[in-house]
Amino acid sequence: MLTVEKLSVKAGERLILDEVSLTIPAGETHILMGPNGSGKSTLLRVIMGLGDLEVVSGRIIFQGRDVTKLPIDERARLGIGLAMQHSPSLPEVTLKGLAQVLGDRYKNDWRSLATALNCDYLLERGLNDRFSGGESKRAELLQLLIQRPQLLLVDEPESGVDLVNIAVVGKALHQLLKQGKIKDREHSGLVITHTGHILNYLNADQGYVMINGKLVCEGNPRDLFEEISKHGFEGCVACAECKRR
Ligand SMILES: Nc1ncnc2c1ncn2[C@@H]1O[C@H](COP(=O)(O)OP(=O)(O)OP(=O)(O)O)[C@@H](O)[C@H]1O
Ligand SMILES: [Mg+2]
Repeated sequence: MLTVEKLSVKAGERLILDEVSLTIPAGETHILMGPNGSGKSTLLRVIMGLGDLEVVSGRIIFQGRDVTKLPIDERARLGIGLAMQHSPSLPEVTLKGLAQVLGDRYKNDWRSLATALNCDYLLERGLNDRFSGGESKRAELLQLLIQRPQLLLVDEPESGVDLVNIAVVGKALHQLLKQGKIKDREHSGLVITHTGHILNYLNADQGYVMINGKLVCEGNPRDLFEEISKHGFEGCVACAECKRR
């Protein structure tokens, strides 16, 4: 589904990602962890094609096609979708207006998704216009799930979300990414988490740790999360088991 090959990325004069490589086979969900400022969101944003980043070297291959230089709208049409960590505020556009447009475009029942994500009471409001942190997250996921992209890039879906709504968000993501045998799953995911809560809802196949713009560690996501919870990120750098070393 997705191959990232030795991708190095600059923002302004600063190198943010340093020769990052990973492969997500069709139907798999991979998890990205790492300290604040290590480059996780930048990786998701550059795969989506957001404009403020410069690819210095390396390639992004999606479903066999080199998308490294494609504009964001073409990537979206091909089936890449991003739920951002910090989504912009668009007070003039109601959540309902956007959900309707997306629902028509992608032939998807946006109303039941809005209900499932506990977004009904937000529909008449301007997008992210003074939404709380958890409301923004759910509205962002609503837009992503209506599009049903082949590849879901999800940046900290549970951060700032209360425990009840984490279950709401987790179940909605689970529905699309599906548990069960990989061959029965239609969508792939790359999901960033700090808290690990989302691991309770996803059948995550692989985990990575990013430090200073490099993927330093990979393995079973639950094992990695447990290791980080106990010993911090130091263990990831020193871990002798890791395939990346
Ligand atoms: N457009 C930009 N211009 C300048 N610096 C940037 C830009 N985008 C990202 N950065 C910097 O790149 C680094 C990595 O940022 P990024 O948002 O990818 O981190 P992160 O791993 O997602 O962190 P967090 O866990 O806090 O969300 C940070 O130091 C950030 O300030
Ligand atoms: Mg981030």
